[in-house]
Amino acid sequence: MVDASKPCLIPAGSGGFGGAYMNYERDSIEDALLPWLAGQSPGTVLDLGCGHGGLGVRMAEEGHRVICWDLQPECVEASQAHFDDRGLSSSFDGMCGTMEDPDCWQRIGRERGLLALTLMRSLIWVPADTAVKVLVHARGKLAADGRVWFVVLGCDAPIVPESHRAVPLRQRFAPISPEAGELINMRQPVTTYSSRELAELFQEAGLTIGEMRTTGYGHHKGWAFADSGAV
Ligand SMILES: C[S@@+](CC[C@H](N)C(=O)[O-])C[C@H]1O[C@@H](n2cnc3c(N)ncnc32)[C@H](O)[C@@H]1O
Repeated sequence: MVDASKPCLIPAGSGGFGGAYMNYERDSIEDALLPWLAGQSPGTVLDLGCGHGGLGVRMAEEGHRVICWDLQPECVEASQAHFDDRGLSSSFDGMCGTMEDPDCWQRIGRERGLLALTLMRSLIWVPADTAVKVLVHARGKLAADGRVWFVVLGCDAPIVPESHRAVPLRQRFAPISPEAGELINMRQPVTTYSSRELAELFQEAGLTIGEMRTTGYGHHKGWAFADSGAV
């Protein structure tokens, strides 16, 4: 039985967020992220909205320390178990809390900054104004050459009804539609973005998108870096 009061974790149909970290598109962002991480000296990576830590484990396997941060304690626990199972306990740090919580951000050290910060299917679960605050925090924690990697559901995705995308961005925090929400177990409020809106949101937070593409499923996938001119 699905708990509709919690952010979506397990879709009702086939596939799975979090646990197996499902790639439902062959040319998924991980195909760019993981090789990029493999080419970096060991550093710290933050997986924000980590689910069950499937991606986190893969990033740790590239030699990095991973902070798995999620709103749901069971996700952080599942991530820890996932790392333990793979013999990667020493690469794991867990953090439980909401992504806009300044206290959580404060607990993340700044010594060398984050090599990467991943926001995989997690940014949509907050309103756009909160998302900007999250990205401002993210920018402040990035290493000079660090990247924010993201997968964000687009407002033009086939599963998103016209009624949702017709709402102005700053008020677009609502369930997508009862039918579509039921189908994929996305019944909680979400904010979806056009690629232009997403680029503007990042820009507002002092981040510039390096690469972004929209997949057939309607996800915007890409990475951004800190705009050196921004405060
Ligand atoms: C759709 S799942 C994606 C999980 C994983 N990143 C993946 O792509 O498989 C969204 C995750 O974001 C987490 N989440 C939702 N809202 C959050 C918030 N405000 N702060 C932190 N995590 C949040 C959920 O608990 C869930 O684990």
